[in-house]
Amino acid sequence: MKVLLIGGGGREHALAWKLAQSPGLDKLYAAPGNPGIARHARCVDLALTDHAAVIAFVREHAVGLVVIGPEAPLVDGLGDSLRAAHVPVFGPSRAAAQLEGSKGFTKDLCARGGIPTAAYARVRGRAEADTAVASFGLPVVLKADGLAAGKGVTIATTRAETDAALDALFADGDAEVVIEAFLSGEEASLFVLTDGETLVPFGSAQDHKRVGEGDTGPNTGGMGAYSPAPVLTPELECRALDEIVAPTVRAMADAGTPFSGVLYAGLMLTPTGPQLIEYNARFGDPECQVLMARFRGDLLETLLAVAQDRLAELPPPAFSPGTALTVVVAARGYPGTPRAGGQIGGIEPAEATGATVFQAGTRLDGDRLVASGGRVLAVTATAADVGTAQAAAYRAVDRIDFPDGFCRRDIGWRALC
Ligand code: AMP
Ligand code: GLY
Repeated sequence: MKVLLIGGGGREHALAWKLAQSPGLDKLYAAPGNPGIARHARCVDLALTDHAAVIAFVREHAVGLVVIGPEAPLVDGLGDSLRAAHVPVFGPSRAAAQLEGSKGFTKDLCARGGIPTAAYARVRGRAEADTAVASFGLPVVLKADGLAAGKGVTIATTRAETDAALDALFADGDAEVVIEAFLSGEEASLFVLTDGETLVPFGSAQDHKRVGEGDTGPNTGGMGAYSPAPVLTPELECRALDEIVAPTVRAMADAGTPFSGVLYAGLMLTPTGPQLIEYNARFGDPECQVLMARFRGDLLETLLAVAQDRLAELPPPAFSPGTALTVVVAARGYPGTPRAGGQIGGIEPAEATGATVFQAGTRLDGDRLVASGGRVLAVTATAADVGTAQAAAYRAVDRIDFPDGFCRRDIGWRALC
């Protein structure tokens, strides 16, 4: 089968790497792809917002499955356009992707379904916001409603921080903002494949969202991850599935907008049990890198079964029992303005240690590989336990020659302390 993979980051490199191992794959195309993905796919230049152009490409090249990696094309309805053209798609419809695209939508769904999540208020103006903040007390969590790449959330611990965050959120006047009570506990991510009806747990992970060691500094898209998340015990995973994910999938189906794809539940493990922090409608980045490093099954067969509503026919997915750990190497300046164009070397020596280097923000400048984004590489290793995987990942990181880059040196620390 021919497959078109949409996206060009580290998540998509991991998907391409795993799809390339599927015996049923005849040819992989990626739009736009990147130099790492180009090791497994033909990268094509398609305007992803031009759905007719994507459909024309699919028809011309007899593509049998489109896999949508990032959230933006999902929220833009690329999945709907492809389904309307009878093309099998891995990735939810625009209506179902609201679980990620609108925090207010998800909070309302949780409230209706009794799904455990932080108390909240949806507000439209500064006066409403001030009333809600007063009722929750401090710390308080303030979120822009739409997609914000992890940067639209402030946890304010003082009145001054609250005011500054609200000023920023309402800077353009008419914004929709969600205000939430603060939850404390450890965070874990649970991934679940669903075709709208059948649910299949697809691994857990822990991300490192802050740029600095010890989880300090500004939020990023994720500076590293490991899988599985030991803190999400089998018992807690069952509770999260029964109390959070299953009722969500049922509610989406009952509303006539079934969710088909991978549902990524960001959980807070509180003393009273798992609570939903947020949903994403796609694999995490860099969580996908560690899930793919551990997944032992046939990814093409699995994603196609989701796309064709046949998930119930598949055997349960098999993962290696050990740990996969990935360290993100970012360009200096990230998560502010990253320094572009820095030369990257050492990928082959890094991979010679047994690690896999997924490329995220890279491009070719002639025959030089250079940085073209904030998060540039995800250096990934697997081993029997977190400590050994961490040592193996940093052994490989140390062979990377990227003077303009930096990484956290403590990925995995919560599982090791
Ligand atoms: P989100 O974009 O909703 O995932 O939020 C980004 C990060 O903010 C999460 O990963 C949490 O670390 C934190 N966060 C979000 N909501 C809450 C909450 N209600 N209580 C505590 N921390 C939160
Ligand atoms: N690593 C967080 C995310 O993909 O949203």
